[in-house]
Amino acid sequence: MTEQPYSDKVMDHFLNPRNVGEIPDANGIGNVGNPICGDVMRMYLKIEKNVIKDAKFKTFGCGAAVATSSMVTEMVKDKTIDEALKITNKTVTEALGGLPAIKMHCSVLAEEALRSALKDYYKRQGQEPPFKDRERIHYKHESGDVDKTTDT
Ligand code: FES
Repeated sequence: MTEQPYSDKVMDHFLNPRNVGEIPDANGIGNVGNPICGDVMRMYLKIEKNVIKDAKFKTFGCGAAVATSSMVTEMVKDKTIDEALKITNKTVTEALGGLPAIKMHCSVLAEEALRSALKDYYKRQGQEPPFKDRERIHYKHESGDVDKTTDT
C-alpha cells in the first residue's frame, strides 16, 4: 500500500469542503485560473466596514485546489482586509498541514482568488486597491512546471 501524500486536513477539506457556493450580494468577486492545468476558481466576499463577513467559493479543479479554496474561505472570515492580505499560499498550505511539492501551485490559485476578490471590492467602491499585485512566476519542478507568487 502506498503512503497517503495528503494530510488528514487536506483530505477533510477536499471531501467536506466548507463554504461552497455563491454569495448573492457579494461585493467582491475574484476569478482566477491556472493556464497550465486549466483549473479555475471563483471567490465571493461580503465585506462590511472593512471586515470580511462571509466568503464562498466555486472551484473547478483538483483536490488540492478544492481543499485550499475551502481553507482560505475559513481563514478570511471575520478578518479585516489588512489581515486577509497577510494570507498567502504558504499560510493556507501550512494551515492544511502541508501539500506535496508538485501540488503547491494549487495553493497559489487560492491566494490569487482572494486577492482578485479584494481588488474587485475596491474597484466597486471606485477606489484603487491599496496593495500591489503579486506576480505569478513559474518555476521548474522535476515533475513539471508549477507556479508560486512573490511580492513584486
Ligand atoms: Fe490545477 Fe491543482 S492541478 S490547481
